[in-house]
Amino acid sequence: MASLTVRQLDDAIKTRLRLRAAKSGRSVEDEVRVILREAANGPDAGVSSNSSGGPVEDAAPVRRPRSATKSKLPRVTLIIGGGIAAYKALDLIRRLKERGIHVRCVMTRAAQQFVTPLTASALAGERCYTDLFDPQSEFDAGHIRLARDTDLVVVAPATADLMAKMAQGHADDLATAILLATDKPILVAPAMNPLMWNNAATKRNAAQLARDGVSFIGPNAGEMAEANEAGVGRMSEPTEIAAFADTMLRPLNSRRLAGKKIMITAGPTHEPIDPVRYIANRSSGKQGYAIAEAAARAGADVVLISGPVDLDDPAGVQVVRVESARDMLAQVEKSLPSDIAIFAAAVADWRVANAGEQKIKKTQSGLPKLDLTENPDILATVSKLKQNRPKLVIGFAAETENLIANATAKLKRKGCDWIVANDVSPASGVMGGDRNTVHIISANETESWPVMSKDEVANALVKRIADAIGAKA
Ligand SMILES: Cc1cc2nc3c(=O)[nH]c(=O)nc-3n(C[C@H](O)[C@H](O)[C@H](O)COP(=O)(O)O)c2cc1C
Repeated sequence: MASLTVRQLDDAIKTRLRLRAAKSGRSVEDEVRVILREAANGPDAGVSSNSSGGPVEDAAPVRRPRSATKSKLPRVTLIIGGGIAAYKALDLIRRLKERGIHVRCVMTRAAQQFVTPLTASALAGERCYTDLFDPQSEFDAGHIRLARDTDLVVVAPATADLMAKMAQGHADDLATAILLATDKPILVAPAMNPLMWNNAATKRNAAQLARDGVSFIGPNAGEMAEANEAGVGRMSEPTEIAAFADTMLRPLNSRRLAGKKIMITAGPTHEPIDPVRYIANRSSGKQGYAIAEAAARAGADVVLISGPVDLDDPAGVQVVRVESARDMLAQVEKSLPSDIAIFAAAVADWRVANAGEQKIKKTQSGLPKLDLTENPDILATVSKLKQNRPKLVIGFAAETENLIANATAKLKRKGCDWIVANDVSPASGVMGGDRNTVHIISANETESWPVMSKDEVANALVKRIADAIGAKA
């Protein structure tokens, strides 16, 4: 048989490698590392078999997390520093994962005094890294790989000590070596006693890090873990850090709603009784505002028609402020045509028919008589439009009893495409609160989502909308 040329041999090896990588879910580069390791240590070293017989690494250093590799999830390396807030970093792992972010944890030696690598591994679903001088990780300069094989490095909690080391460029443990070797953005969430945060040295280090391009979230003001201590130094809440990290990772996620126009209503309406008094409800507008912001981040052209609320305008959103249901309807009609309409506002069902033009005075002749009349039904009006009806019309149902049954009836009555149903009974804490439990009801199905922050509900809803209208991922 004629001998193979170098070229033929090269092609055969490459084809074989690609096939092997496709089967194992690893990159070709990682596959080469596995082969080299097998060659050095024998075929069983660091490699076990999965049920399908293919090679699966144990908590091995060369492994790229399979789920992240396959689905191209954005990746965060979470460095946990040695502060009392380390326990909150465990919740942060969950919050990041809820947002579809792959998390790989690294703990400093001091962090392990507060929480264990085992807990972080279990929550992240992957080994938690702790040692710079770990022969298993470092046979291929694992700290460099950990520094690069990520999209964002988050330090939470960032202790005063860790920030000092970062500012000085230390690299005497795995965390600081990664922070020095990374070419990816860094987000730090400081957490410390207010006196430590206000110390001149910490201030200098924080300013230096900011100059070096490190992003900060917090610290917040509030109670410290130490008794009777309060001030600025509390680590930002895990939900806030996860939302911020998500925003930093956003350019990685495509702007799936680019080119789509979305109209959103939010907040309560105020229905005048006279020039100084009005009928209102407890809606804070938070959910509608969060949806507007999430839709804008996804690239949509967003008009937010808002009743009176105490919230800042969301970034990148055109906000139109209104007072009453009739004002709101007028602005909604003005904003059409729109691809998608989301009616999250808690519009008053009734207004005072005989509202006073002057302030109604208290008189001896008894109580003033207020006649109520029905307000226009904005959701039904838009859902039933013959012309210019948005392709997707989404209403909200705020119910205090028989949530699903009432919301399903509302879907039929109004003629909209989906209803987002939420329980607003006082016990749920939804009205004015930061969390929400929603059910997405359409003609064919009811999808119940777990308790989430209003930002998470907004992100999930925007994703659901993009899926439904077939926007490209
Ligand atoms: C009970 C306890 C709580 C601590 N909490 C904090 C803290 O919240 N923030 C901080 O900067 N340092 C805190 N420290 C001090 C750090 O643990 C110490 O500076 C450590 O070297 C930091 O390690 P790191 O650089 O790995 O984060 C605490 C120490 C103890 C004993």
